[in-house]
Amino acid sequence: MKGNPRQKALQILTSLFQRGKQLRPLLFSAYGDLKQDDRALLKEIVFGVLRKKLYLEWILRGYLKRPERLRPATWFNLLMALYQLEYLSIPDYAVVNEAVLLEKRHGKNPSVVNGVLRNFLRKKTIPPLPEEPIERLSILTSHPAWLIKRWIERYGEEKTREILEINNQEPPLVLRVNILRSSPDRVIKQLKEDGIVAEKTPCSPVGLSVKAYEDFSSITKLIGTVYVQDEAAQLVSYLLNPEPGKRILDACAAPGGKTLHIAELTGDRAEIIAVDQNPLSVRLMEENLRAGKYRSIQIVQSDILKYKPDEPFQMILVDAPCSSLGVIRRNPDVRYRQDEKGLLEFQKKQLEILLHVSGFLKKGGVLLYSVCSLEPEETTEVVKLFLNKKGDSFIIDRRPVSVIPDSMISSEGFFSTVSFIDEMDGFFAVRFKRL
Ligand SMILES: C[S@@+](CC[C@H](N)C(=O)[O-])C[C@H]1O[C@@H](n2cnc3c(N)ncnc32)[C@H](O)[C@@H]1O
Repeated sequence: MKGNPRQKALQILTSLFQRGKQLRPLLFSAYGDLKQDDRALLKEIVFGVLRKKLYLEWILRGYLKRPERLRPATWFNLLMALYQLEYLSIPDYAVVNEAVLLEKRHGKNPSVVNGVLRNFLRKKTIPPLPEEPIERLSILTSHPAWLIKRWIERYGEEKTREILEINNQEPPLVLRVNILRSSPDRVIKQLKEDGIVAEKTPCSPVGLSVKAYEDFSSITKLIGTVYVQDEAAQLVSYLLNPEPGKRILDACAAPGGKTLHIAELTGDRAEIIAVDQNPLSVRLMEENLRAGKYRSIQIVQSDILKYKPDEPFQMILVDAPCSSLGVIRRNPDVRYRQDEKGLLEFQKKQLEILLHVSGFLKKGGVLLYSVCSLEPEETTEVVKLFLNKKGDSFIIDRRPVSVIPDSMISSEGFFSTVSFIDEMDGFFAVRFKRL
């Protein structure tokens, strides 16, 4: 991707919404040769627009006669400029000039961009918000109304407001220390030498929460020794409770966050088969494997539904593809990608994968199902559907795991973390045991 931070931000936003591309790969490819400050500005604009999109669009519509006529590049250019004017301390004239320049290069309407932004700066008014409470909250917090409605039904209004607020905040940077190569104390010391403050996480014994950092390169230096992974995701591998010598299948493994953690928990002395169908993520997993010098992991690039092992496994992890609605604070675009119909499509896929791999498990073996979503379609309903079919040979294994607080396990044996209680990403997991 070529250009300055604003050009790249515009390309990312149009690629996300016009071409359905994924945010992280776009961001990493856009960073390219940009300097640290420019990377920060690029990320601030992209994440900022995504976190405020519905609100910014509400404002923008108030300044346009025929909003539907604008080309996407012009639309996003204007959202980016409004975001900078409303939330960043960049001088107004610089924001307007940059937006007009950008429009000359990528759009067709520099005079519209100039006119709208100058009009906004003159009036600074925001069109009256709808009276209907959910519509209003949807605009003010930039979350789709259907999601707010279901969360209010599940958590009540107060908690939902908390979730919406957390989803729009910058999440903490959490690392997992590779205990095969270092220890949390050693890494804390190393980071301190670079002026970075990190603290141990409350539950995961290998987690570090980075309190303040200016320059990510001090953390990049530690690749192989640390892995960026939220504490909730770390707890999933503890819930599997893997042991050395076991044959373990990680059915949806890439980019390998949990695979590597499983290898670490077993002292790199298990036999781990890591399957994933996505070639790009598999390549990333291979790089991660090389960086940490793991020996117990074998990567297989395949659709898991077509995969057939030579021998059965003692443990299987299905960290299934899901809506990712539990990790909106890290992936602010997710809220605009999903809808209720989509949740049922994920459910179908999740169940299909679970049923397929359940046939690869030895008697007495453990099957762990996890998703970074708390929506019932992808969590409790999948468990119910799975047990409807396999209830004669699988039960939920409620065995406590020392690292995981009791409060995270329900009476049915469901593990879940929620942002407003646990200060972690939203994860769901359940341990099945084969009889
Ligand atoms: C939630 S991500 C896994 C994250 C990974 N476990 C980690 O901790 O880094 C789900 C993964 O499932 C993979 N996937 C989706 N459908 C699949 C299939 N039919 N066969 C294999 N992998 C699949 C996706 O490519 C994606 O990498």
